[in-house]
Amino acid sequence: MSDPDLPDVPRDRAAARARHDQLAPVLRDARYRYYVLSDPPMTDAEFDLLWRELLALEEAHPTLATSTSPTAEVGAPVDSAFPPHRHLEPMLSLDNVFSREDLAAWRERAAGPLDDDPRWVCELKIDGVAISLTYVDGVLATAATRGDGVTGETVTQQVLTLDDVPYRLVGDDADIPSLVEVRGEIYYPLEAFEAMNAERVEAGEAAFANPRNAASGALRQKDPAVTATRPLSLWIHGMGALQLGGTAPDPEDPDAGEATPDPTDEALGSGPGAAAFATHAGFLDWCARVGLPVAAETLVTDDADEVWDFVDHWTTHRHEPTYEIDGVVVKVDDLAQRRQLGSTSRAPRWAIAYKMPPIEATTLLRDIEINTGRTGRVTPFAVVEPVTVSGVTITYATLHNEIQVHAKDVRIGDTVSVRRAGDVIPEVVGPVLSERPDDARTWHMPAECPSCGTPLVRPEGEAHHFCENVDCPNRILESLSHFGGRKALDIEGLGYKTAKLLLDEGLVADLADVFALDRRREDLLALEGWKEKSVDNLLAGIDRARAQPLDRLLVGLNIRHLGPTVAKLLARSFGDMSALATASVEDMAAIDGIGPVIAEAVASFFAIDRNRELVDKMRDLGMRMTAEEEATTSDVLDGLSIVVTGTLEGFSRTEAKDAIESRGGKATSSVSGRTSAVVVGDSPGSKADKARDLDVPILDEAQFVELLDSGTLPT
Ligand code: IVH
Repeated sequence: MSDPDLPDVPRDRAAARARHDQLAPVLRDARYRYYVLSDPPMTDAEFDLLWRELLALEEAHPTLATSTSPTAEVGAPVDSAFPPHRHLEPMLSLDNVFSREDLAAWRERAAGPLDDDPRWVCELKIDGVAISLTYVDGVLATAATRGDGVTGETVTQQVLTLDDVPYRLVGDDADIPSLVEVRGEIYYPLEAFEAMNAERVEAGEAAFANPRNAASGALRQKDPAVTATRPLSLWIHGMGALQLGGTAPDPEDPDAGEATPDPTDEALGSGPGAAAFATHAGFLDWCARVGLPVAAETLVTDDADEVWDFVDHWTTHRHEPTYEIDGVVVKVDDLAQRRQLGSTSRAPRWAIAYKMPPIEATTLLRDIEINTGRTGRVTPFAVVEPVTVSGVTITYATLHNEIQVHAKDVRIGDTVSVRRAGDVIPEVVGPVLSERPDDARTWHMPAECPSCGTPLVRPEGEAHHFCENVDCPNRILESLSHFGGRKALDIEGLGYKTAKLLLDEGLVADLADVFALDRRREDLLALEGWKEKSVDNLLAGIDRARAQPLDRLLVGLNIRHLGPTVAKLLARSFGDMSALATASVEDMAAIDGIGPVIAEAVASFFAIDRNRELVDKMRDLGMRMTAEEEATTSDVLDGLSIVVTGTLEGFSRTEAKDAIESRGGKATSSVSGRTSAVVVGDSPGSKADKARDLDVPILDEAQFVELLDSGTLPT
């Protein structure tokens, strides 16, 4: 199999050996730092490329594939502060493919020896930390990391702090094997990861490079109480040893385990559970039944085209799941067929990982510049040699603040790794130290704001520098484009470009001037490229914005630390702008959910004459200054767990979640037997099928609205 990304393999054995000798220690070290230290020295894509080169060398010169080659090892050697745990069945790794052709070739290879065409199970490849949970008579006996695949680290107490991990499996005794090793992936949910990293950056601490490192770090805490403070989650995706009946062997006895036994074997005993373990899909259903978490984004199919459609769909929608993924795993469903195919010492022949294109890449850091944002906060950003990361060209990447630049030891002239995840602004992960040129330059925060020349200040205890000039041109530009943004007044047509044009043309000088634009209709029409329709749209959008409630206006005012949640609390408590503007720090800090830092920031905003004048001017120009009527919601959804899949017309994902939670319900992302209802919008994912399979009620949008109102599920 020739790989276009790889250098040619030397035909000469000595040259091949020399290259192998070069690569082996680098890859061994990278694996150690990845698995044991949670601090990989290179991106996954870089690792994959070197790894593929090593495999190509060994394929061409099989004598290089000795037992000491890194390709003979599964994970990393265990060198750990945690007690060792010998897995009853080894935790293997997966072979990778990177193209449709190679995936098809693997499918052919896997199907070749089998009498019947296999059925395939497609799952997302979770970028987390592999874990093995041993349940003896339904009770969690041990949780262990993969380690070197044979022996892992015991982290039972740490894992028991996860909400997703049942200590005792639920269900009839007959459904519970006397012993089972379930394997899965522990991950850091993306939203929580981003919030945690933002807090670290705010506090001047080094951000985690990615959610996997954060999960690994959180799990490998000596004190489980520390792990308990992190919102780790789990998806189960496989099984190791299994004993259905009889007396459970001692899981700590190294002789106790055999390779996965045949569940139809008489000697194992047979409860009603036995049938569950004949296929992987059956195993996943069993997991959901007994309380083990399984991801809903799974497809079981006989059709090879659908396997590719699944890969293709999730490659385009890779940022949709609430957890980070880096590929798709395709598996043979039937366990008897799996036994027939067997495994190499490293990976099974019945499964393959299709790796998605990387979301990290390395590039040259040309310069570091700074930008003054809407609250006056100054953010350094990297200007990099343009590089494409999962289909998007990155030219700029954030560096957060001066402390981060120094904590990451990023210098101008370095080769740096940049990362793009979800909707988050691309960021610089760190430098590639081995490629640092001698003339790489250390960067320091400039003394003055580049937009207005005001000296920058860094308040005590703060990680960020600020420009305190309320008239700073860049600050006004950023404020204005935020003012019209979705979380603030949501003015259609008032984005960054229009904000810049209006300021440059002198049509507005501050935020309040937006509400006087209806008097400047002729001037707007004279703008280059503007037509009657665009002007009408903008003015109509502004008119609608006048009726927006107080919380949205507060978000639009660009007060530090004030986001939508805090704004809602303040608006609800004070009712109107005048009451809030005259409130003391103590009045505000007395509200549940408002801390002294936020209270101080709001009070300082209203202490500035210019800001109070701005608000008065908005009021005079017709802006509403009162809070939304208290919606009379109740706890009608108390005890219900609801999943939304697909696109709804009247709700964004967040609005649907808020609507459920504000009525006391639980908005969850995966469908299980415990889900009360699944709301299905346009282009639903596999969750709808899963709901059908599990007989969970399915609601359309109209029924969802009814449910929100009444709290009763349609019969
Ligand atoms: S099945 C015999 N399914 O990826 C190994 N693994 O790079 C069978 N992983 O070792 C593994 N998501 O830790 C499987 N849906 C998924 C997975 C998954 C993530 C991890 C797993 C594996 C590693 C290989």
